[in-house]
Amino acid sequence: MPVPYTKLVIEHFKHPHNVGEIKNADVKVTEGSPACGDMLTLYLKVDPETHVIEDIKFQSFGCASNIATGSILTDIVKGKKIEEAAKITWKDAVKALGGLPTVKIHCSVLAADALHSAVEIYMEKTGLVKEKKPTTKEIVMSKLSHVVDPLTGIDVVRSGLIKTIHIKDGIVTVILDLPKEHQFAKNIEEEILERLEHLWDVTAVKVIFEG
Ligand code: FES
Repeated sequence: MPVPYTKLVIEHFKHPHNVGEIKNADVKVTEGSPACGDMLTLYLKVDPETHVIEDIKFQSFGCASNIATGSILTDIVKGKKIEEAAKITWKDAVKALGGLPTVKIHCSVLAADALHSAVEIYMEKTGLVKEKKPTTKEIVMSKLSHVVDPLTGIDVVRSGLIKTIHIKDGIVTVILDLPKEHQFAKNIEEEILERLEHLWDVTAVKVIFEG
């Protein structure tokens, strides 16, 4: 049976570009796929003056299509301004790869979602977002819907792990229905901090494990 991948997909899968981590990254973000439970972590380093993406790296815990998309997507946005990177979609990546099998499209969506999350966090962090909305429980929930429990591959909102969210005087408290001995408690806490700490009206984020 022939392999349903283009030559370029196989090339990027076998020899992916921009793999690894950036130690002093401006943004590190992990995105999970609701379709398959796989994950991709993206690191971004941006020139503070020009807003040009100086470096971008990824680590994939997904399939061949995901690795190939991560590779080509990071190639596409490297050297672009952050605002331009925000406009790049999974369709651009799939087109650049010469296509992907339909059942593998979600793998490219995962990579593009990680890019968009990283860009969004950078823009929020640096005040590039024009409209500054006050942080509400809805906003917190929508941010947390991107935080994945590595054990299940499902985000903490869909898996019902959020017990309560309090917001008072700039302090966001997230109470999780998870024991603090959970093997990924530290990772989940870090992810939550990454998603919330930089918001313009948030002064502190507390994560409490109450499982
Ligand atoms: Fe999960 Fe491709 S099947 S990323």
